[in-house]
Amino acid sequence: MSSAPPDARHLPKAELHLHIEGTLEPGTAFALAERNGITLPYSSPEELHRRYDFTDLGSFLELYYALMDVLRTEQDFSDLAEAYLERSAEQGVRHAEIFFDPQAHTSRGVSIGTVIEGLGRALDTSEERYGISTRLILCFLRDSSPAEAAETLASAEPYLHRITGVGLDSAEAGHPPGPFRDVYRRAAELGLRRVAHAGEEGPAAYVAEALDELGVERIDHGRRALEDPALVRRLVEERVPLTVCPLSNVRLRGVDTLADHPLPQMLDAGLLATVNSDDPSYFGGYAADNFTACAEALGLGEEQLRLLARNSFLASFLDDDEERRARYLAEVDAFRF
Ligand code: HPA
Ligand code: ZN
Repeated sequence: MSSAPPDARHLPKAELHLHIEGTLEPGTAFALAERNGITLPYSSPEELHRRYDFTDLGSFLELYYALMDVLRTEQDFSDLAEAYLERSAEQGVRHAEIFFDPQAHTSRGVSIGTVIEGLGRALDTSEERYGISTRLILCFLRDSSPAEAAETLASAEPYLHRITGVGLDSAEAGHPPGPFRDVYRRAAELGLRRVAHAGEEGPAAYVAEALDELGVERIDHGRRALEDPALVRRLVEERVPLTVCPLSNVRLRGVDTLADHPLPQMLDAGLLATVNSDDPSYFGGYAADNFTACAEALGLGEEQLRLLARNSFLASFLDDDEERRARYLAEVDAFRF
């Protein structure tokens, strides 16, 4: 009989791949709909939850964007971030680099200021209340035009003090990173860090293109990079972090079951892989839930879990606060399972 997997719930960890809109729980969606006088096309949170049976990235994104309609005011965005922080504090998260999708809101008439100030209101006091340091990463929608991405970045300039970096998300297949090179160059000029989703549904070539054309410092997902051994060698040599999202990959059918997930091969290859929740409300688990599920399905032991936690802080954008990074790493080393 195999022994119980190590308990990673309180293992200190950083979450580096988290879409704040993907933390919208069914019950919260109903509460916000009521507050804003919106009628959702579902009879109950339970019925909504039953729709979380996705066949691919596209089928998820359809519901993800539709449900955002309940997010209208600064208070809504603040409440959303607040709920995420509260959940994450129970999941051992000590540092969170949080994605948001401004175009999914501005296209509905919600201003980027409403989004950023609302999120910022909750994040401003996150450390005192939850012991979680935070960063915000503004994502461009790759299935909209590079011109729209450039306009979005320009509209964010008054809020740059709240923003650490830019990312690229939404439907990947058929939407390579290259066309976004000019907006990424502008982001770098503005002092922003750069990441991009690549190799989730798109090919390994998109991972290389994100590095070469966009100058990204981390790859979000990167799972399909494994299809190209030369690219894997490059990612290892250049210490490019991958923000892997195991439960997301299963729910969007990138892998058949969690037991088939290539996370152990990634670690064995020497890749700087991290474990993250992506859109935890939709994919069945927050940060520690992903660690625990991987420990169970993949037989990860204490040292692999500790390595993943160390990687999360090493891959984080804490370069502006190395003292804090060192403190978090020491917490990981001192943790007893
Ligand atoms: N992939 C791409 N875009 C996204 C995702 C994802 O998993 N979640 C939210 N936007
Ligand atoms: Zn994602």
